[in-house]
Amino acid sequence: MVWFNNLKLTTKFNIIIAVVLLALFVSAALFNYHRQQSLIIKGAVDNARIIAQQIIETRDYMSSVIHDEPERNYALVPQVVATQVARRITRGSPFYVRQVSLRYRNPENRPDNYETVQLEKFAKKSVGEEFRVVSIAGRQELRYLLPMVAEKSCLECHGTFAAAPLFVQRRFPPSHYSYNYKLGEVIGAVSVSVPMAKLYQEIGLNLKIDLLYRGVMFLTVIIILSILIHRTILNPVTAIAETMTEVAKTGSFARRIPRTGDDEIGQLSSVFNDMMEELQRKTLQRLESEDRYRNFIEMAQSPVITFLEDGKIVIANQRAEKLFGLARDELLGETIFSFLDDGAAVQHGIAIYLRDGKGGGVGATTRHRVRDVGGKMTEVDLALSASKADHQAMFTAILRLTTPPQGESS
Ligand code: HEC
Repeated sequence: MVWFNNLKLTTKFNIIIAVVLLALFVSAALFNYHRQQSLIIKGAVDNARIIAQQIIETRDYMSSVIHDEPERNYALVPQVVATQVARRITRGSPFYVRQVSLRYRNPENRPDNYETVQLEKFAKKSVGEEFRVVSIAGRQELRYLLPMVAEKSCLECHGTFAAAPLFVQRRFPPSHYSYNYKLGEVIGAVSVSVPMAKLYQEIGLNLKIDLLYRGVMFLTVIIILSILIHRTILNPVTAIAETMTEVAKTGSFARRIPRTGDDEIGQLSSVFNDMMEELQRKTLQRLESEDRYRNFIEMAQSPVITFLEDGKIVIANQRAEKLFGLARDELLGETIFSFLDDGAAVQHGIAIYLRDGKGGGVGATTRHRVRDVGGKMTEVDLALSASKADHQAMFTAILRLTTPPQGESS
């Protein structure tokens, strides 16, 4: 995730928003698709149930009123009537209806594999309807089966051979397995099937419209959200970052950030501006006091130098330049110890002072010999004092000549 951490805030924000919204978008679409799919299946099952019930009712009614009428007109057999009614009901619809039995009389009513399994299940124990979406040769199909049980009226033709009407006896011999049903036994089932592809087509279209609609909505939300976040958070933060970079680069504390409001970002801007104000003031003060100090030491009769812990010279007056025989630019950065013939001892004294906070010749005047760049030796009384600036010790040395230089009065 290092690469992510290194991205710009704006890019990070855009990535997060896009990922979150995309996940929402996809899951909402999927959820919707599945909900529509189960609604479609439920609708198909409801339709299949109504069709099946209608057929069973037709058969029950026919069976209760008919006796030997089919003798003259076979079209009045309850099964035949129900089949014709079913055909008429489902004409023009994707629903396909059959009445099937394991011990069929008409070969047209022979169950297929799926129906056989379900009929065997019905025969074992009395269950209600059975439905399932099955895949047949790669095509999705809803199969619905509603069992038909033998009522008293059914046994007139499906009971014993002896009790059956003549037209039944004539067609089906006594050994035929379509006889000898008991009361309450499952004779067969109404089987309804409907290919789902046709029904799914509709939700496929719905899904496309849904995706388009949601896509436009999410895009609008993303745009509005990103504009808002940019305006309120990212732009002000970027402005602060830019200003800080500029300050770091130029060292000028004059820049201010325009305040946008009274929220946390506004507070941050205002704290930043206050800080810049303070820094500007402090810098001015420091420059002024440095200037004052320089003027002051220039007026001194003796060479004066200020140096750091390691002896590095940071400020020197003209008389010091003359004593060491170097121009100021050359002098600054040199270490004082190298000009003293007992430089090592003085350096040791400084170390003692730094360790103990006292002693080491600081605050005292000691006699030393100074060697200038040309090798000329001068004897001086060195008055050493220490000060602290920014947690760093600074030392100021006043080097009074024991014998005034020729041509000058002391
Ligand atoms: C009047 C006689 C008669 C009555 C009453 C009768 N059936 Fe039938 N049933 C038949 C005949 C005949 C067939 C064969 C129809 C064909 O040739 O398509 C048949 C066929 C069936 C079939 C289709 C399977 C097959 O054998 O081809 C089922 C299921 C069925 N009957 C159930 C019932 C039920 C349940 C009842 C009572 C509600 C009932 N029948 C009442 C005569 C009758």
